[in-house]
Amino acid sequence: MGGFSAEWLALREPADHAARSMELTRSVLNALPRDAPWRILDLAAGSGSNLRYLSSVFEGPTHGSAPTPSEACEPLVGADPRVRPSWLLVDHDAALLAWVARDPHVETRRLDLSTLDNRGVFAGRALVTASALLDLVSEDWVRKLAVRSAEVSAAVLFALSYDGRVVCAPEDPEDEAILWLVNRHQQTDKGFGPALGPRATEVTARCFEALGYQVRRARSDWKVARQSRDLQGQLIDGWAQAATDMAPAREAMINAWRDRRLAHVAAGRSEITVGHEDLGGRVL
Ligand SMILES: C[S@@+](CC[C@H](N)C(=O)[O-])C[C@H]1O[C@@H](n2cnc3c(N)ncnc32)[C@H](O)[C@@H]1O
Repeated sequence: MGGFSAEWLALREPADHAARSMELTRSVLNALPRDAPWRILDLAAGSGSNLRYLSSVFEGPTHGSAPTPSEACEPLVGADPRVRPSWLLVDHDAALLAWVARDPHVETRRLDLSTLDNRGVFAGRALVTASALLDLVSEDWVRKLAVRSAEVSAAVLFALSYDGRVVCAPEDPEDEAILWLVNRHQQTDKGFGPALGPRATEVTARCFEALGYQVRRARSDWKVARQSRDLQGQLIDGWAQAATDMAPAREAMINAWRDRRLAHVAAGRSEITVGHEDLGGRVL
């Protein structure tokens, strides 16, 4: 699959953190056992965005300088300050993991998760988490993830799975055609088998519920404001590329759409909503 650059992950991190459901996050964390320090596994952790978000919930902003929403700076209600979590962040990209701030409570490990045969990393975990991952993986992969998590009775928190909704303002006559192509591209293999794309949260909920998990879902849409021109520009370029990959014969239409959308961005009148969902779960 194409790599994810540290620059792209840094550009999207403020939108990711602002979009995540604090309420769902707190409900998952508040249900974790209190009798031992939490051992947390972060899958496909990249440069550590999920660690920074969750750490800001535990203890205020640490582990790097990423901006966080002000509500994320409040300590977790009822958190025991003596119970400092320990983390294992895994990813196949060592260059991304190198961006994770050094901390004795945080271990990074380079691992290929494409088959999820890495049972060892799940051992003893109170929480298995990931952000911006599940739309990339296949149904078989999620089924295996549910088995691995259930084997150790871990709670789970999977944030920011794309759900197929994109709303651009001002509207363009070709928005719908482009989104249709983008959502087909979302379901192509990203290295984990045929990707779930927009079905990620629905399928994940089903797989975990089948193993006795109580699952909760919450919307975590990106609201990309007109001032966020770099993020908007990258999104539009990425969508145009994905649409062209799916329909090379329609390249001229797609390029014209991209140029009109980028003109809206440059003029400061473009707003984009990208639909995401967070999912939390625990074994009953
Ligand atoms: C969209 S990024 C999300 C990164 C991070 N969780 C975040 O929220 O910023 C997807 C991540 O999956 C990782 N990844 C992709 N294929 C992988 C594989 N086969 N094994 C392990 N990690 C993989 C990428 O390196 C990248 O860091």
